[in-house]
Amino acid sequence: MVITTAVDSAEHVNCTFASRYVRTPVPRFKMPEMSMPKDAAYQVINDELMLDGNPRLNLASFVTTWMEPECNDLIMASINKNYVDMDEYPVTTELQNRCVNMIANLYHAPVGDDETAVGVGTVGSSEAIMLAGLAFKRKWQNKRKAEGKPYDKPNIVTGANVQVCWEKFARYFEVELKEVKLTEGYYVMDPVKAAEMVDENTICVAAILGSTLTGEFEDVKLLNELLTKKNKETGWDTPIHVDAASGGFIAPFLYPDLEWDFRLPLVKSINVSGHKYGLVYAGVGWAIWRTKEDLPEELIFHINYLGADQPTFTLNFSKGSSQIIAQYYQFIRLGFEGYKNVVENCMENTRVLREGIERTGKFDIVSKDVGVPLVAFSLKDSSQFTVFEISKHLRKYGWIVPAYTMPPNAEQVAVLRVVIREDFSRSLVERLISHIEEVLKELQTLPDLVAAKAAHVSATVDKALESHEGVKRVKRSVRETQEEITSIWRRFVDGKRTGVC
Ligand SMILES: Cc1ncc(COP(=O)(O)O)c(C=O)c1O
Repeated sequence: MVITTAVDSAEHVNCTFASRYVRTPVPRFKMPEMSMPKDAAYQVINDELMLDGNPRLNLASFVTTWMEPECNDLIMASINKNYVDMDEYPVTTELQNRCVNMIANLYHAPVGDDETAVGVGTVGSSEAIMLAGLAFKRKWQNKRKAEGKPYDKPNIVTGANVQVCWEKFARYFEVELKEVKLTEGYYVMDPVKAAEMVDENTICVAAILGSTLTGEFEDVKLLNELLTKKNKETGWDTPIHVDAASGGFIAPFLYPDLEWDFRLPLVKSINVSGHKYGLVYAGVGWAIWRTKEDLPEELIFHINYLGADQPTFTLNFSKGSSQIIAQYYQFIRLGFEGYKNVVENCMENTRVLREGIERTGKFDIVSKDVGVPLVAFSLKDSSQFTVFEISKHLRKYGWIVPAYTMPPNAEQVAVLRVVIREDFSRSLVERLISHIEEVLKELQTLPDLVAAKAAHVSATVDKALESHEGVKRVKRSVRETQEEITSIWRRFVDGKRTGVC
């Protein structure tokens, strides 16, 4: 007992690196038997986390990686507040309602001056999409039941470019996903084909404002026209959901005249990620409905055991309050003017990056000028090396740039994608361009260098065998050796896919 105390006190005097905690590995699968000092636990975890990528250099993600220190303070101050305890934290609830109203207003929801908008804060766009999808499914089922028609085969029409959360919704909530296939050169949902695919079992058509793969906006206005016509002809009333995960905080500021939101009568709900261009750290999204009638009352739960009647329509019960508070901070801190400035800067940096990439002469730009600030680009010629190799080589400089193939029927097209976020400044853009140029140089010379070395080794081995065994071997040319090396390399890299979110 006395010895243990002596060791413990010695460990409190010594720095962590002079203690036993850095000498033994931390168990990976079972909870350790004994406690460890807090500074040792901090150090051990902190050090292992150093091996993660740097979020600021993670160009794969739309999700916010920088906020002002004042907002970081607010986040830390509310980290211990459970959002669901609305009666205990009425101000936090009020802030969420203000956010819902501000967003609904931005999206032209038909809400009177003294009316509150219908919407909810979620963990992200995925949860918002599940909730919106459930509302459509339930509304459609109720209508079919009332008409005495079968209601067991609901489907949803989307482009094949939808984010994985739509596939999740379809599988988890048993709705068939009918995807409009893409074609080479056209990487978003074709509204004409989408309208053709709609049938009496279609609960909604989901259009994307800012395709995850290329940032391109789908033509919601045309979709609204085509569906209005089809609804009139058939007597159905197929609605539209807009997945504005990224574009919902771009379009209102950059393209105020673009009609994609509640200005279009068939748009009944919209989701947006607060943690993308809403400029809040990961963990907040929003689902907004056009009117109360578009959200079936039976999906809203009313609980009172925390002190008062609380309506809830979320998949999870408990969640943090910080992200809601941070969203409200951004809205009042930046205002319309601030958001506009941020997205204009992003677009300007996107332009500079696109031009730098075009200057290399090696790439075709796949993203469009109007859309989410990102550059998606494919190799003009993939015979020497692929986009997957470029992605892998950029890692050496710290950049995380995903490479992926397009969905059906454009799988033959492989692209790299760089998302421009608020914190990706011009000097970083210029560095990235110069690193892409470096990587291209390396990849162009690499096969020659490797082949020259391989040819040298192979000639030496042939010579040695000849002199020992008197065997005459058939020599491969330098070109053949080089091709073999390149193909092994390509097979290795092609097997890897970098996920995008
Ligand atoms: C178009 C689209 N929808 C939905 C999502 C899912 O969003 P979240 O990560 O907020 O759940 C994404 C994510 O990138 C997206 O791009």
